[in-house]
Amino acid sequence: MKKEELTKEEKLKLLTGKDGWRLEDLGGKLPEVFLSDGPNGLRKMQETGFDAMAGYAQNKLITVKATAYPNLSMVACSWNPEMAYLMGSGIADDCIENDVAVLLAPGVNLKRTPLCGRNFEYLSEDPFLAGECAYQYIRGVQDSGVGTSLKHFALNNGEDYRLTQNSEVEERAMRELYLPAFERALEAKPWTVMCSYNMINGVYASENKKMLSDILRGEFGFDGVIVSDWCAVKNRARALKATLDLEMPYSERSYPELVEGLEAGYISEKDVDDSVERVLTLVDKATEAKKTRKVKTTKEERYARTVKIAEESIVLLKNEDDLLPLKKGMKIDVYFDDGSKETGGGGSAKVEPDVEVKGIGKCLQDEGFEVIYHGDAYLTDATGDVQLMCVNANTYESEGYDRRDLLLKKRHEEMILNAARRNKNVVVAIYAGSAVEMSNWIDLVRGVLFVGFCGEGQNEALARILAGKVNPSGKLAQTFPESLDDLPVDLEQEYERAVYYRERFAVGYRYYDWAMIEPLFPFGYGRSYAKFEYSDLEIKKNGETDYEVSYTVKNVSNVDGKEISQVYVGDVIATSERPEKELKGFSKDLIKAGESKRITVKLGERAFAFYNPSIGKFYVENGKFVISVGASSADLRLQGEITVKLPKFTQMSPTDSRDF
Ligand code: BGC
Repeated sequence: MKKEELTKEEKLKLLTGKDGWRLEDLGGKLPEVFLSDGPNGLRKMQETGFDAMAGYAQNKLITVKATAYPNLSMVACSWNPEMAYLMGSGIADDCIENDVAVLLAPGVNLKRTPLCGRNFEYLSEDPFLAGECAYQYIRGVQDSGVGTSLKHFALNNGEDYRLTQNSEVEERAMRELYLPAFERALEAKPWTVMCSYNMINGVYASENKKMLSDILRGEFGFDGVIVSDWCAVKNRARALKATLDLEMPYSERSYPELVEGLEAGYISEKDVDDSVERVLTLVDKATEAKKTRKVKTTKEERYARTVKIAEESIVLLKNEDDLLPLKKGMKIDVYFDDGSKETGGGGSAKVEPDVEVKGIGKCLQDEGFEVIYHGDAYLTDATGDVQLMCVNANTYESEGYDRRDLLLKKRHEEMILNAARRNKNVVVAIYAGSAVEMSNWIDLVRGVLFVGFCGEGQNEALARILAGKVNPSGKLAQTFPESLDDLPVDLEQEYERAVYYRERFAVGYRYYDWAMIEPLFPFGYGRSYAKFEYSDLEIKKNGETDYEVSYTVKNVSNVDGKEISQVYVGDVIATSERPEKELKGFSKDLIKAGESKRITVKLGERAFAFYNPSIGKFYVENGKFVISVGASSADLRLQGEITVKLPKFTQMSPTDSRDF
């Protein structure tokens, strides 16, 4: 339908929803367009009303059952964007079956602190890794004829005060850390982008002209629908002025506020028409897609995908004396089997799994192991060969509030200590959405795996890893600190109205590098049953800021394995402050036992650039750069140096030695 066919009233009505989840249909003039959460599986409400926060808190709103995939926090640990694609296309099939036009995902907000209650929904502390995964996720969903909503734009990095807080951030940190994942994901052309609840430098995201109109549309070229986070609009006319097209859910204030804005001359008919046009384009897209889209996978195939993605995402953190994989015939004591059934955090991303989630005990039995269940019981000395403790975080992780600590449940920690006092072979499997502290017990146990929230097939994947059928290949997409004292930011300093991003770039591994603090497990860390050696770094120049970084990775063990090699770039001498190093490329490769692989990673201009606020764009400053290749951010195996020498008139701050 064309906007010319609509009355003025109809146009204004179109700028908010019909109800909790559907676009306005103007009394049946337009086809139905249903929007639904969420990142790690479909969460479609069975009712269309929206009882916002109360519904979440009391878990009253009933959702349809759907395949529960690994959370995005884990998908990023696969360092394999193909997994994000696979998951996206699988979720799309659930959407098609349930007549959902747009999936409200993915969330790419940066993990500024491991305490953020919603970290399980987000990808990484690094924008490059997050951007690569989000890009493929969006393609996976949209190639199947379902739209996405890239969220939450932007600077929503904590939950406690997300509805009221002003994220005060300086330009460089915003451009270099908080926006690039959005920027990259936008290349996959999401149908919609969802703005966040918070303010950004003093203006609510929903009304922020600089963020929505100048940056998102103007600089990043987004021409789709900007939708509000649910109830994020403060004033509909101000939001429209900032080019926010669609207020969700239905708001009775929307219409009169738009009329008031028009009458006051604050917004124009053109502002209304532009948004109406974009909403109608979305309706057309959804309607067209619906005609041809088809379910491509069976429920069983979707379940198999959850297992496959989990197999690539689970991270082996410790494996003393190669206790793992478990040897055939071993007897396994399983503690807290129920803890192993937790597949996700709370809030709008909570998916109701469509299968009964099997505990790890059952999955180990399916792999042929004898399992002794202990539940919450005290340990006795009549125990098996290995004690597997399935543990959860102390705080139930959820949208709406942050964690206060990084602890495990007290009972779980007590039992680990108790088991370790009596037995040599304690293995801990952590089911949580973000980093947890391990200092009290890590030296006492022999194995640790971070399962995260890995979806409804997580225990089948874990059992296959424990049994040695699958070689673990996930690596952490966020740093695990020793303790709360080592965090880059202190949430206790924040309050209802404001959060100051004083740490600038010192987030995640950038912080640990700068503060020279050794974390418990660094960003990019993960073990394999295989061993890899790196050699023969070669850096080939194709252009002044175009390089090919090649190196050889050899599997020096007798098992096949996948290795994630990471390429970091550091600016040696710079006139502006730069992080010591930043991830600019990576590769995940299957390398057979005893074999080698030559790997090439390309670096372009952005790999060397920083955002220069004086010229309003990314800028490469001439000089030396160190290129490091390694197995984690703290395990750099190869290093080389290049010198960039762009023509002198490209340079803003030339000095004799650098430019002439
Ligand atoms: C969340 C969004 C979600 C929306 C709809 C909001 O509270 O922040 O991520 O898509 O609700 O459920």
